[in-house]
Amino acid sequence: MAKQSTMGSPRLTFQKKKRWGLILLVMLSVSTAVMFVIRAGYDSSCDCGVGKGFDSVVEQKVVLGQTNNKVKLVSPLSFMKSKVVLLVSHELSLSGGPLLLMELAFLLRGVGAEVCWITIQKPPGKDEVIYSLENKMLDRGVQVLSAKGKEAIDTAIKADLVVLNTAVSGKWLDAVLNKDVPRVLPKVLWWIHEMRGHYFRLDYVKHLPMVAGSMIDSFVTAEYWKNRTQERLKIQMPKTHVVHLGNSKELMDVAENRVAKRVLREHVRESLGVRNEDILFAAINSVSRGKGQDLFLRSFYESLQLIQQKKLQVPSIHAVIVGSDMSVQTRFETELRDFVEQKKIQHRVHFVNKTLTVAPYLAAIDVLVQNSQGRGECFGRVTIEAMAFQLPVLGTSAGGTAEIVVNGSTGFLHPAGKEGVSPLAKNMVKLATHVERRLTMGKRGYERVKQRFMEHHMADRISHVLKEVLHK
Ligand SMILES: *[C@@H]1O[C@H](CO)[C@@H](O)[C@H](O)[C@H]1NC(C)=O
Ligand SMILES: *[C@@H]1O[C@H](CO)[C@@H](O)[C@H](O)[C@H]1NC(C)=O
Ligand SMILES: *[C@@H]1O[C@H](CO)[C@@H](O)[C@H](O)[C@H]1NC(C)=O
Repeated sequence: MAKQSTMGSPRLTFQKKKRWGLILLVMLSVSTAVMFVIRAGYDSSCDCGVGKGFDSVVEQKVVLGQTNNKVKLVSPLSFMKSKVVLLVSHELSLSGGPLLLMELAFLLRGVGAEVCWITIQKPPGKDEVIYSLENKMLDRGVQVLSAKGKEAIDTAIKADLVVLNTAVSGKWLDAVLNKDVPRVLPKVLWWIHEMRGHYFRLDYVKHLPMVAGSMIDSFVTAEYWKNRTQERLKIQMPKTHVVHLGNSKELMDVAENRVAKRVLREHVRESLGVRNEDILFAAINSVSRGKGQDLFLRSFYESLQLIQQKKLQVPSIHAVIVGSDMSVQTRFETELRDFVEQKKIQHRVHFVNKTLTVAPYLAAIDVLVQNSQGRGECFGRVTIEAMAFQLPVLGTSAGGTAEIVVNGSTGFLHPAGKEGVSPLAKNMVKLATHVERRLTMGKRGYERVKQRFMEHHMADRISHVLKEVLHK
């Protein structure tokens, strides 16, 4: 199992501990969607412009039905009832791709679809994470099949829909289906979340032109795929649908629960040793150069200097880096820590280990910094999660971030790379000094999430794609 957040603090009173325990328990028990994992798989670097010419299902209204005075959500996916759906995941872990596919599995189960799941790559021996995730799926009526063999082939042939998750899953087609590949391709929907060069390999994606459609998390990523497949591989993308992601109900439950939020905030702040009035800027990503924590720290240092030079009256500001893993990223991690030491800002910078639950940190901080470099995030789910917690976002003007954050309204965008260091520093000072503005931006971010980045929006967008794929 991946590391749990390290929240135990001997200074806690029993009362607090109990409350904390309860909340954590509630949060952990709801579903996989609550495992707000540090999504490691989405490092990427791309500098393409905003996409055009894709079938955008970004702005669709949800279907509401009235029953007994209660507004009840009629799932836009209800037409999938009794349909057989095979979901093919390249791996099963607590990372963004597989968890997202699991969310789709549960949405489809929720409307009575027959859902089968295949994991292509499994480590040898028993893996605790895989075991618990598979059990979770079995509990919810998802059939878990072996990736190879007759059952897998038969299911692919009989399925109404096959969803391949991530580009890498393309390997499975030839390896397992073999001569049956052409029969299955017309009902394949390919869900792509990657934007890194090494996925553009013909042996992964050569069947792309023949599938029913592809679904990609942001316009910029879709544009990038269109370009790269054409130029590098000389193949055409199938009909491509941009589907922005949405926040799970479980996350929204915590984000909209004032009491839970307050308790989590107090607890995390206490464990970090910061006061209630201090202002916390946090980057919540796996720690790696692509995610830009080094540049974030440089901006942070610069903003401290600005505050000092201009003698600004602001509460003390802190930087929190959630997603450390000293056991893996030692060189980069060491570099970050050396910087902090060299600039003597140890009391202002807090490193937090990779954690399953980011909600406590979202409850505890004041501003999210999404500093992904190069091509940016493919989507960057933590951005909409932070907005759900009414946090303004300071993000690089790259990738999905630029499609989520409205510059000047729900946060500020700064350029990726070294030229973004000073703009980010200035934006941090701006948000530290203008409390009203910070809170307003957070509220606008929340409204934006409610308008277009909720699970039901995502379900609705996916439903349009599935309808099209099924009626082909
Ligand atoms: C697509 O490729 C062309 C040619 O290399 C390039 O000029 C264009 O900027 C690219 N577009 C995107 C969005 O990457
Ligand atoms: C964080 O993880 C490292 C190893 O990855 C471990 O040595 C350290 O104890 C952890 N920190 C906490 C506070 O659990
Ligand atoms: C964001 O808006 C600010 C003004 O509010 C502007 O100076 C900056 O250039 C904008 N950045 C981007 C990436 O559009």
